[in-house]
Amino acid sequence: MTMAPSTPDVSPERWRSRAAEVLTRARDRSQLLTNAVDDDELVRQHSPLMSPLVWDLAHVGNQEELWLVRDVGGRAPVRQDIDQLYDAFKHARADRPSLPLLGPTGARKYIREVRNKVLDVLAHSPLEGRPLLDQGFAFGMVAQHEQQHDETMLATHQLRAGDAVLDASIPPPAASLPSAEVLVPGGPFTMGTSTEPWALDNERPAHVVQVAPFFIDTAAVTNGAYLAFIDAGGYDQPAWWSAVGWAHRQEADLSAPRFWQRESDTWWRLRFGIRERVPPSEPVIHVSYHEAQAYATWAGRRLPTEAEWEKAARWDPATGRSRRYPWGDEEPGPQHANLGQRHLCPAGAGAYPRGVSPLGVHQLIGDVWEWTSSDFGGYPGFAVFPYAEYSRVFFGSDYKVLRGGSFGTDVVAVRGTFRNWDYPIRRQIFAGFRCARDPAPGEVG
Ligand code: AVJ
Ligand code: FE
Repeated sequence: MTMAPSTPDVSPERWRSRAAEVLTRARDRSQLLTNAVDDDELVRQHSPLMSPLVWDLAHVGNQEELWLVRDVGGRAPVRQDIDQLYDAFKHARADRPSLPLLGPTGARKYIREVRNKVLDVLAHSPLEGRPLLDQGFAFGMVAQHEQQHDETMLATHQLRAGDAVLDASIPPPAASLPSAEVLVPGGPFTMGTSTEPWALDNERPAHVVQVAPFFIDTAAVTNGAYLAFIDAGGYDQPAWWSAVGWAHRQEADLSAPRFWQRESDTWWRLRFGIRERVPPSEPVIHVSYHEAQAYATWAGRRLPTEAEWEKAARWDPATGRSRRYPWGDEEPGPQHANLGQRHLCPAGAGAYPRGVSPLGVHQLIGDVWEWTSSDFGGYPGFAVFPYAEYSRVFFGSDYKVLRGGSFGTDVVAVRGTFRNWDYPIRRQIFAGFRCARDPAPGEVG
């Protein structure tokens, strides 16, 4: 039986309950991450790369107020006086601690007040009649925004010094995979989406892309494989690096993934306040785009383009159609992927056999964000929606696209079309990579 891409149930009640569910889950996570540390740690800056946690908290509430209380709800502002403090474009992260921010108690009170109004707005909105309202888009957008900051706050936790304050169960174990790589046949596939109700502007519209045949690894590059690159002197050999990458490697004095330390012959890592041996079968994490690119070149391979990644993740050779997720159209469950901060590390290769793609590629969703070789840009026919500062202002060659989400990403923001981006030098995000290659001459018919 062939099924059309499903938008499961379109009744407003269904969108209302889904919106309430994702907003509540994001808020539970924001609270867990901010209640885990004391007030002094909430207002402190743990790294110049990050905001104080108390800024993220009130910023999330402020975006929620702007879009859902004022715009969608048409209601009076809760705190118009603070808009400017929580506008990410007005103040760099490094400068945020010196602003007259709401303190922990004030921030908590503010976001609670906003949320109470929003639940009331949600109960009374028609969820149709305006693009922002249709199928609850604005509520889905705001929930995705909060969950993105939940992942950012989790990265702040990873950068913070001191004892562990977060706790989570260990992910399912690694399992052997039938092959290390698979062939993705050449030909067209549909990239992006015009039908996913809560897809963000940069995922739209759906468009056909021609992709030449290529091979892609069935799993992300592991710590064990990455160690071989280090041991082979990969960090000292400019030939493996791009010119820009090598200059950065020199200037930043890179010699291993961030949070790794060598002690005689043993590699250790710091993970949310715990010091542990680097586990060889887990995907490598906290590497920059430049390190990923150097590893791939050393291994005689390359990073996939963004289109290649998405074809490997979504294209179903039996129907020719692009799925919502590698495993089909069903929303991610714990059997499919390591998501939602359920575990606080990536799972080993092969740990999620039920999340496999039709072509046999594993763990495209969850575990680690995967660097692609593509710059972040708009698809043909891109239109800003609903604001240019979400995507468009970042288009260009400064940013590389990452795909697939990490263990820190919520289900609401890991569609097969979802796009993330960052500077190619960034390492504090939960990013790793997988390799691809062109077929050898005569290898593919
Ligand atoms: C999509 C993760 C790059 O954190 O800068 C949060 C998401 N946009 N608030 C970011 C975002 C506005 C964004 N990334
Ligand atoms: Fe934000």
